[in-house]
Amino acid sequence: MAERTYATDQIEVHWNSGRCIHTGWCSKALIAVFNTEQRPWIQLEAGPLDEIVKVVENCPSGALSYRRLDGGPQEEPDVPATIVPWPNGPYFVRGSFEVKDRHGEVFDTSPRATLCRCGASANHPFCDLSHREAGFSSYPRVSEPPPEEAE
Ligand code: SF4
Ligand code: FES
Repeated sequence: MAERTYATDQIEVHWNSGRCIHTGWCSKALIAVFNTEQRPWIQLEAGPLDEIVKVVENCPSGALSYRRLDGGPQEEPDVPATIVPWPNGPYFVRGSFEVKDRHGEVFDTSPRATLCRCGASANHPFCDLSHREAGFSSYPRVSEPPPEEAE
């Protein structure tokens, strides 16, 4: 797992590969900047600052984060925090929350995280895509009937 920081004089973007769940949302939104076919794969000079900020804030796993150096606003966590059970995948959590260990020690304060709910991750409590190999399937909303009972 790698961690890297990319920077211009306006912004630093931090990348934590261990958190990425490979949605591809960053590349789809701004391929000139976030492109795994190029090296380095993040090229901040290739896109507008506001777009880069938007893409980073949309990264569900927290693999991407940023720190503005131009005096612009830093990321504000959503309040209240939200938890979305992703179909056949992790919990998408975003907002103001803390992840603590069983002793109460905070070890993650990112405003975004994808938390494993299949039990197969080797990077608990974060999802590492092992749910695919494990064949995890879910029904996302407890208020809805299971698929076999749905009309
Ligand atoms: S949006 Fe985040 S989780 Fe998705 S591919 Fe990009 S860095 Fe990974
Ligand atoms: S939900 Fe993705 S590894 Fe468990």
